[in-house]
Amino acid sequence: MIIAVDGPAASGKGTLARKIAAHYGLPYLDTGSLYRATARDLLVAKSDHENVNEAVRAAQNIDPDSLDDPKLREPGIGEAASLVAPIPQVRAALLQYQRRFCTGPKGAVLDGRDIGTVVCPDANVKLFIKADTKVRARRRFLELEASGLMMTEAQVLADLQKRDERDRSRHSSPLVKAVDAHLLDTTNLDIESSYKAAIELIEGVLGDGGKTD
Ligand code: CDP
Repeated sequence: MIIAVDGPAASGKGTLARKIAAHYGLPYLDTGSLYRATARDLLVAKSDHENVNEAVRAAQNIDPDSLDDPKLREPGIGEAASLVAPIPQVRAALLQYQRRFCTGPKGAVLDGRDIGTVVCPDANVKLFIKADTKVRARRRFLELEASGLMMTEAQVLADLQKRDERDRSRHSSPLVKAVDAHLLDTTNLDIESSYKAAIELIEGVLGDGGKTD
């Protein structure tokens, strides 16, 4: 079974996707970490998104063991990730990684921006997570604060809006809800309520043979 979870920055999709994967006993892939790792490896090589060949090389050579590096969660890496993400050859290299991941015997849960539209268009269930921008900024601010990173909430909001705009307007695999994705608005939901709502949606789809809203 493949479950695709997409949505904008800090919408809660990562936390949700991880919990959904644990619930169904499926492998989980945070696809944002692939873009973040590509950006990190480019920066380590003293390069950036303007060097397309280097960016592609970084995307092709991702070390799976380096995907839980806490540095990947830093705001600068998120910004750099959204600058390498529009490069079609980078997306093509990472697409191969993602497709390999989800062809395992059990299937998988993947979260990102283009899982339901490009990576797994035939996923059994597609969720698109949204939340009010200010609420998302508040969540990300608290997350960063807890990890000791000092940024004002206004800075976090501005970064998030800039990144969302870049993700939505790029030519290659933009952030968009797949037509057959089920929308879940987590603006007024905490983690537990979002999780319950997501499982209800998924069970509804699995129970009625995959009908969409
Ligand atoms: O955690 P957050 O939602 O802030 O970001 P992320 O999911 O780690 O993604 C970081 C960046 O990678 C995004 O802003 C996108 O530019 C890019 N990305 C993408 O283009 N496609 C994906 N499937 C996942 C991430």
